[in-house]
Amino acid sequence: MMGFFKKLACASVVGASLAAPFAAGTAHADEPIKIGYLVKMPEQAWFINEQRAATDYAKQNHFTVINIGVPDGEKVLSAIDNLGAQGAKGFVICAPDVRLGQAIRARAKRYNMKFVTVDDQLVDSAGKPIADIPHLGLSSFNIGMQAGEAISAEMKHRGWKPEETGALRITDYELPTAKLRTDGATKTLLAGGFPQANIYDAPQKTTDDEGGFNAASPVLSKHANVKHWVIFGMNEETVLGAVRATEQLHIAPADVVGVGINGAGEAFAEFQKKTPTGFYGTIAVSSTTHGRESVKNVYNWVTKNEMPPLYKESTGTLMTRDNWQQVRKDLGI
Ligand code: GLA
Repeated sequence: MMGFFKKLACASVVGASLAAPFAAGTAHADEPIKIGYLVKMPEQAWFINEQRAATDYAKQNHFTVINIGVPDGEKVLSAIDNLGAQGAKGFVICAPDVRLGQAIRARAKRYNMKFVTVDDQLVDSAGKPIADIPHLGLSSFNIGMQAGEAISAEMKHRGWKPEETGALRITDYELPTAKLRTDGATKTLLAGGFPQANIYDAPQKTTDDEGGFNAASPVLSKHANVKHWVIFGMNEETVLGAVRATEQLHIAPADVVGVGINGAGEAFAEFQKKTPTGFYGTIAVSSTTHGRESVKNVYNWVTKNEMPPLYKESTGTLMTRDNWQQVRKDLGI
């Protein structure tokens, strides 16, 4: 049955393009609706899965998703121009810099496009969240607290003394969701008796593995006398990068507990390694739901004039080597 509907949808795409000569900026009534999906890091497993889920949803509902990677502000604006030229009706965006908020809004208005944000909420010139652009994000502080709880529990389980343990906190204070996540983890660790003086900051330049690795290396080297390390940051890529840095410095995996956030491809690969690494776990969130819901919100907005909820947050679940397959299944990732 499904296959039949898909074939019908394809037939109408072909029909439309044969019947009407291409004209930039115009969309024909019988052409499928086009919606853009713009992400800051198209190579990151989290975003690959979001875009895939959005594309799948669009296929099932006979519209088209145009996936674009937007690693900087210029690319964001040219992507919106590009969508405008193709007659797209709207887009979902996770911007490379949340301060691009007003620029994105102005450019979308030029083409009369509706848009929503996913993951990273845009801010105004004063740094305040732009509350009237519909956003689907994470319960960042709570998810950070969950990462902190997982670390505290695993420290206890391994019998590590807090005074002999260092915490590597990989930070990005430019991005509000990132700050909330590491603040949440910090709060839980301190509440559990972790000494404030043993928390070492490693500011990251980019929110990927490389960013985590580069941030972590000098801090780990500087505190070579630390017996055990716990590592947390805004996402699992960051934490994985830091775990790779511990390996390079020959710190034994048994002396490292890294807990990330996301629950995507890189974490799955890590859990499948024969010998456990210093990457203990991650707080998994459904990138599938984020991709599907955000594109669905734009689609319903442009086709039925249904305004999406202005703010929604996803919760997280601890995923480790022991339960990752089940959690992955439950979250449909
Ligand atoms: C940010 C991070 C991603 C992912 C999302 C989830 O955009 O860069 O890795 O954690 O948040 O909302």
